[in-house]
Amino acid sequence: MIFQNKLITWYLIHKRDLPWRHTNDAYVIWLSEIILQQTRVEQGLPYFNKFLENFPTVTDFAAASEAKVLKLWQGLGYYSRGRNMHNTAQIVVNNYNGIFPTLHDDLIKLKGIGEYTAAAISSFSSGEARAVVDGNVFRVLARYYGIDTPINSPEGKKQFFKLANELLYTEDPALYNQAIMEFGAIQCKPKSPDCSICPLNIECYALKNNAVGQLPVKLAK
Ligand code: ADE
Repeated sequence: MIFQNKLITWYLIHKRDLPWRHTNDAYVIWLSEIILQQTRVEQGLPYFNKFLENFPTVTDFAAASEAKVLKLWQGLGYYSRGRNMHNTAQIVVNNYNGIFPTLHDDLIKLKGIGEYTAAAISSFSSGEARAVVDGNVFRVLARYYGIDTPINSPEGKKQFFKLANELLYTEDPALYNQAIMEFGAIQCKPKSPDCSICPLNIECYALKNNAVGQLPVKLAK
């Protein structure tokens, strides 16, 4: 069985039941992805629910005052995320008729949406073939393929981005993207992963070469 198949099979058994995985509404996915940008799932979950209750649609979000948005944001930190969201909601209402964009090339123009978030929203909402590359994906690929290019160098970013897109399971980009991120978060953890139960352990470069603790490489900045 190939890499993609093993990841997806693992995911279907081990995935957490998270609310944003039950929708293809780009607005709802955007909310979840921005909240989770610098925030753990357990911490972000109550905020996700609170935002969705207060602002069921992007039009509700855009109509709120910035003060109200920032008040709801309280405790999450990185307040620029809240301010960017408010700006983006207003652009969506004014330029997109209140219909949240689902295409990567539209999404990337919006404030607070970078490569990762544009790939996540477009693949999860419309099935666009865009690989997500977040910390989890860097770790899984670096270990499995034995890539020691620093993940925060320009060459590393290019190399991992290219590989991630070559590996993308284009029959179902959303499923594959969720699977590789969840696999990195739960199985191929940063510290002391239990490789004895890993479905990729036979072929994993890092495990074979006793380098799990050394990969991925990140340059001190
Ligand atoms: N972190 C960022 N995006 C996520 C997602 N879609 N599911 C779980 N954790 C995430």
